[in-house]
Amino acid sequence: MLNIVLFGPPGAGKGTQSERLIEKYGLVHLSTGDLFRFHLKHETELGKLAKSYMDRGHLVPDEVTINMLKSAVLEQKEPKGFIFDGFPRTNPQAGALDQLLSKLNTQITLMLGLEVEEEELKTRLTQRALSSGRSDDADPEIIANRIAVYHRETAPVKEFYAAQNKYVAINGIGTIDSITERLFAAIEHHQ
Ligand code: AP5
Ligand code: MG
Repeated sequence: MLNIVLFGPPGAGKGTQSERLIEKYGLVHLSTGDLFRFHLKHETELGKLAKSYMDRGHLVPDEVTINMLKSAVLEQKEPKGFIFDGFPRTNPQAGALDQLLSKLNTQITLMLGLEVEEEELKTRLTQRALSSGRSDDADPEIIANRIAVYHRETAPVKEFYAAQNKYVAINGIGTIDSITERLFAAIEHHQ
């Protein structure tokens, strides 16, 4: 199995590039942000809980997030592999993912980290706010908070994978096509 963690700050291009990777490699795309937004839209209990964190740009608690992700993984019948987008975002989430995959006799192949500087992230998210309908895109303060939460709580997850020699940094600036090529090259190089 090919199991990729697509990593990076808010607006780095995780969702955009995931689409390219699933197309090429036939992977299952699991975005915890998309899963939460599905629950929000359908006003489930989980959606109501998640909304209270997402609207402020905070992380949803680990236990809730891990349980949701586990069910989504276990639901898949004979997957070729996964792209994890927006998960794991904390070291406990990374540990839980390792445990889950080892039960399925597999493991994370690579973490690909899209690197984009802060001003560019803010520009992209402010632009996307015009069409995304995401309340966490609509307010510059919430965007700034999401980026701060990334640095404080999520960036350390790089070290978790670097310690297993699985972290590869990818320049996330440029055209969408050129970044896709960099991601493909990193995956081919590793195989
Ligand atoms: P989530 O949905 O994961 O959002 P995020 O990490 O803030 O990232 P985005 O989805 O905004 O950006 P992206 O990297 O996917 O970029 P995209 O491709 O869209 O999480 C939302 C919330 O859910 C969190 O804040 C948290 O509350 C909760 N949550 C989710 N997962 C959680 C977890 N594991 N634990 C706890 N809580 C969790 O691109 C952005 C924009 O840029 C688009 O408009 C795109 O068209 C454009 N763009 C893309 N590439 C380029 C390029 N090369 N050049 C110019 N523009 C580009
Ligand atoms: Mg996304």
